[in-house]
Amino acid sequence: MKILIIGSGGRENVLAWKIKQSLKCSKLFVAPGNAGTAAICQNIDLDIYDFKKVKEILIQLSIGMIIIGPEAPLVGGLHDYLISIEELSDIIIVGPKKEAAKLEGSKEFAKKFMLKNNIPTAKYRSFTKENIEEGYDYIENNPSPYVLKADGLASGKGVLIVNDKNEAKRELKEMLLNSKFGEASKMVVIEEFLSGAELSCFIFTDGKNYVTLPFAKDYKKIGENDKGLNTGGMGAVSPVSFVTKKFERKIHDRIIKPSMKGILEGKLEYKGFIFIGLIKVGENPYVIEYNVRMGDPEAEVVIPRIKTDLVDLFLTIKNNSLSNFELEIDKRAVATVMAVSGGYPEKYKKGYRISGLNDKSDSIYFHAGTKIDSDGEVITSGGRVIAVTSYGNNHYEAISKSYVEINKIKFKDINYRKDIGFDL
Ligand SMILES: Nc1ncnc2c1ncn2[C@@H]1O[C@H](COP(=O)(O)OP(=O)(O)O)[C@@H](O)[C@H]1O
Ligand SMILES: [Mg+2]
Repeated sequence: MKILIIGSGGRENVLAWKIKQSLKCSKLFVAPGNAGTAAICQNIDLDIYDFKKVKEILIQLSIGMIIIGPEAPLVGGLHDYLISIEELSDIIIVGPKKEAAKLEGSKEFAKKFMLKNNIPTAKYRSFTKENIEEGYDYIENNPSPYVLKADGLASGKGVLIVNDKNEAKRELKEMLLNSKFGEASKMVVIEEFLSGAELSCFIFTDGKNYVTLPFAKDYKKIGENDKGLNTGGMGAVSPVSFVTKKFERKIHDRIIKPSMKGILEGKLEYKGFIFIGLIKVGENPYVIEYNVRMGDPEAEVVIPRIKTDLVDLFLTIKNNSLSNFELEIDKRAVATVMAVSGGYPEKYKKGYRISGLNDKSDSIYFHAGTKIDSDGEVITSGGRVIAVTSYGNNHYEAISKSYVEINKIKFKDINYRKDIGFDL
């Protein structure tokens, strides 16, 4: 079967690396991909938001399965569009339909979903410019800190945590009246602040049944000890040592089960990965958010722990046959450390030559922001550049290996966090 992966990050590189190992995959394409995917399969230069072009490529290349990596095309309805095309009626699409993708595309939708299905989450209220005065009152009458969230997609930048009442009101005004996050902040969800350790939970569903994938923890801040600005993610580890059997049971009973039940009862057409962002408050799990795709860099530690053929897993979508499916998980720990461009997540330069990639290594380099220049050299082309993933008998071992290996990678102004996983 010919397979196409949509996207260009580390997540798509690890998906390609894994799918490439499947005997069921006769030819693999990634659109638009990066230098890492170009090395193992064929990149297609394609604007993934031009749905008509995506359709044409699928038909032209006789693709049998498409995996939609990032959230934006899912929230934009790529699945719905493709499935409406007669020639594509048999194609297997990994990723939910538009209505289901609202679980990530609208924080308000996700909150309502959780409330309806009794899923533990922070208390909240939503506001628009029509009732902004009520928003000010809500801030006035509730304790700080205030968690202000743009309702729509904001590339991980739409959440503000503010201590001061007046600043919270100012930010609410900026978001609702002055379009601080554009269309995304036409509605703002204000949440109660929850305090605890965060972790990421992943499930895969064929539309009816589901399997749970390994837990992971990612590191979002640019600086050591979780200081500084938010990034797309500076590293990740799996498994997560503070997830005990007992805590895992709670996640399953209170969150995963009711989420799947809500999806089925709400007739949300969902086939693909569900990423549940969790926070451990005391001994109890709460949902921070849903994402409708794999996380990045969590994919770089979760996918390498799946021993089962990923194409077989995706094929269960065809006949909802996941209930008979055995998922085999590697017992070893996996860690990834992300090398980023100097200056990221603020201004940074691109186009620097990357060397050291051919050094012999036990680790795996998953490319994110890289491309091949006209001389055939690999250069930086984004903020997050390369994730170095390693296996170990425990997470210390895995992390230590990644730190040894990341030292071999050289490009101008390279930066990475030195403390990934040290808190565990
Ligand atoms: N209710 C909350 N209490 C405390 N921290 C929160 C809360 N909601 C979000 N956060 C913090 O903000 C981050 C981003 O929020 P999230 O809902 O995941 O939005 P997004 O990933 O879309 O930017 C979370 O990872 C968490 O650290
Ligand atoms: Mg998040």
